[in-house]
Amino acid sequence: MRVSVITVSDSSHAGTRADESGPKLVELVDKSLKVNAAINAGSPTVVPDEVAAIRDALLENCKNSDVIITTGGTGFSKRDVTPEATLEVIERRCSGLEIAMHIGSLQKTPMAALSRAIVGIRGSTLIVNMPGSVKAVKECWEILEPVLNHAINLLK
Ligand code: MTE
Repeated sequence: MRVSVITVSDSSHAGTRADESGPKLVELVDKSLKVNAAINAGSPTVVPDEVAAIRDALLENCKNSDVIITTGGTGFSKRDVTPEATLEVIERRCSGLEIAMHIGSLQKTPMAALSRAIVGIRGSTLIVNMPGSVKAVKECWEILEPVLNHAINLLK
């Protein structure tokens, strides 16, 4: 399984704040590699909170990924546009996975209601938005990981 991670953050892109949630996602995916030799992820791509930049990174990574996980930019602030960019790219929306991650997240924090994360499919690539904190990506990965193999097999 080819997994790409995209960090969406103005400050990490500008180099004024270290990207923590992207590397954490890569670590979580790589840990899965130990139990499932089919999963692997490279380094995160870091893009600013701009629809065009996010959309272009999603389209580029779709060429060679079974799964793309984005982190960041799903909230309510004016610069949070990851869901809008994702909606421009996906062809089919996966509301079940959106709901599963939301319910799982709400069990951890009521603040989960403030994420507008989208999950969808473009061609045979699954695109998953996650919020932009280490805590959130750990919690969302717990929900996604058990269903990921089956989801990707269905897309082949
Ligand atoms: N989901 C989980 N599982 N855990 C969290 O800590 N934080 C929330 C929410 N979703 C959170 C979560 C918070 S505080 C915000 S503001 C929104 O995600 C949006 O985060 P983002 O703008 O970094 O994407």
